[in-house]
Amino acid sequence: MTRLEYDRSHIWHPYASIANPPKVRLAERGEGVEIVLADGRRLIDGVASWWCVAHGHNHPAIVDAVQKQSARLCHVMFGGFTHDCAIELAERIATFAPPGLNKVFFADSGSISVEVAVKMAIQYQHAKGRPGRCRMVALKGGYHGDTACAMALSDPDGMHVLFRGMMPSHLFVSKPDCGLAGLAGWTSEFERLVEEHGDEIAGVICEPVLQAANAMNFYPAEYLAAMRRICDEHDLVLVFDEIAAGLWRTGPRWAHERAGISPDVMCIGKALTGGHISLAATVASERVADVISSGAVGAFMHGPTYMANPLACAAANASLELFSRADYAAMSRRIEGEFAAALAPLKSLPNVRDVRVMGAVGVVEVERLPLRDDIDRVIDETGVWLRPFSNFIYAMPPLVSNGETVRRISNAVAAMAALPPGPEVAGDFHE
Ligand SMILES: Cc1ncc(COP(=O)(O)O)c(C=O)c1O
Repeated sequence: MTRLEYDRSHIWHPYASIANPPKVRLAERGEGVEIVLADGRRLIDGVASWWCVAHGHNHPAIVDAVQKQSARLCHVMFGGFTHDCAIELAERIATFAPPGLNKVFFADSGSISVEVAVKMAIQYQHAKGRPGRCRMVALKGGYHGDTACAMALSDPDGMHVLFRGMMPSHLFVSKPDCGLAGLAGWTSEFERLVEEHGDEIAGVICEPVLQAANAMNFYPAEYLAAMRRICDEHDLVLVFDEIAAGLWRTGPRWAHERAGISPDVMCIGKALTGGHISLAATVASERVADVISSGAVGAFMHGPTYMANPLACAAANASLELFSRADYAAMSRRIEGEFAAALAPLKSLPNVRDVRVMGAVGVVEVERLPLRDDIDRVIDETGVWLRPFSNFIYAMPPLVSNGETVRRISNAVAAMAALPPGPEVAGDFHE
C-alpha cells in the first residue's frame, strides 16, 4: 500500500467522506508561498492554507524561534506555571489590540477561542447578577468554528445544519448583505430582537466586515458601530471574531478599525502564528475582566491542557515580530488593487454572479461550482492551489505574495470561473 493509499483508506480529511474520499495531494515541504509536493511539483498556496500562512510557509524566523524554544521547554502546564514566551506574547498582543483590550486568554484553536469568548460574556452577566443571560446574538451568514458552541453561533442554515438538535439555541439577525442602504432596517431588526429577549442575552458576536467561511460576504463597518451602540445600551458583551479578518487580511490590522470603535472581547487566531502551529487568543477589556473577577466565582472557568504551549507562543512571537517590521497594510492594499483589476472582468462570464475584493481577499461568486475533476485539472495545469466551496471560487494568499504570484493566482481563479457549472451539489466542497 502506498502512503497515499493508506491515507485514502484510514484518514478522515476535513469535510470529506472516508468511503469515497476526494483527491488529496502529498505535501512534502513548504517554501515561501509554495507547497512542494512529494513528486516535486510546486503549488502556489492561493488560500494561505486556510488563511493562516501570512508570511509564507516555513518562514525561517518562525522556524528558528520554534527550534530554539524546543531546546528549552516544549510544554508546561499553565496552571501553576508561566513562561517567558507566554508573557512576551501577551505583551505583544496587548500592544497590537485596540486600547483597553489587554487581558489575554490563550486557546488552542480559533473555535476554542470563540467558546472562551462566549463563556466570558456569560460569566460577565453572571457576575452582574443576571444568571439568566446566557444566549448570544449572532449574524446569519457567519462562521465561528466547528466545535459545538462555535457551530451554534454560525449560520443556522449553513454547513452545520445536521447538528442543530444538539446545539444551544442562540438568536440570529439577518446577514448584513444590503450595503449601507440596508443598515437602518437591519439595525431596527437587531434592536427589536434585543428588546424582546433582553433578559436572556449575554452578548453579541460577529466576524467584523468579512463573513468568511459561510458566506464570503463583505459588509460596511457602520454595522459594527450600530452593534456597539446597542450593546452599550443593554450592557451586552460585544465580541469581534477577528480570526479570519484580522492581522491585515482585509487591509487594516483589525477589520473593525474602520468603524472607529472597539469590542469588549476579541478572538484572534490563524495568522497569529503565521500558520506554523495552532494557537489562538481571546482578549478581553479590563472592564470585562474586572466584572468577571468580581463575581461570586471570581475565577474564569476554562483551562485546556495545552494552554499557552511554549512552542506555539514562540511561533506567535516571531510572527507578530514579522508583522511589526513590515508594512502589511500596504501589502494587503497592493494585493487588493491587483485582485480588483484582474478579477473584475470575470463579472461578464455566464456562470459568475458577483466579483468582490477586499484587502487580500478575492471572491468570485458563481451560480454553481464547476465539477471537481475540472477544478483539479485547473489546479494541476496552473500550479495554483485553490479550494472553492459552496458558490465561491476565492483566493486569500499569503500577505507576502508578490505581483507575479497574485497574477498567477488570479489567472487560476479566472480559469475556474470560466469552467462550465457542475451539478447542483458539487460534492464535498465545504469551506
Ligand atoms: C472567523 C472564524 N472564526 C473561527 C474559526 C475557527 O478557527 P479554527 O479552525 O482554528 O478552530 C474560523 C476558521 O475558519 C474562522 O474563519
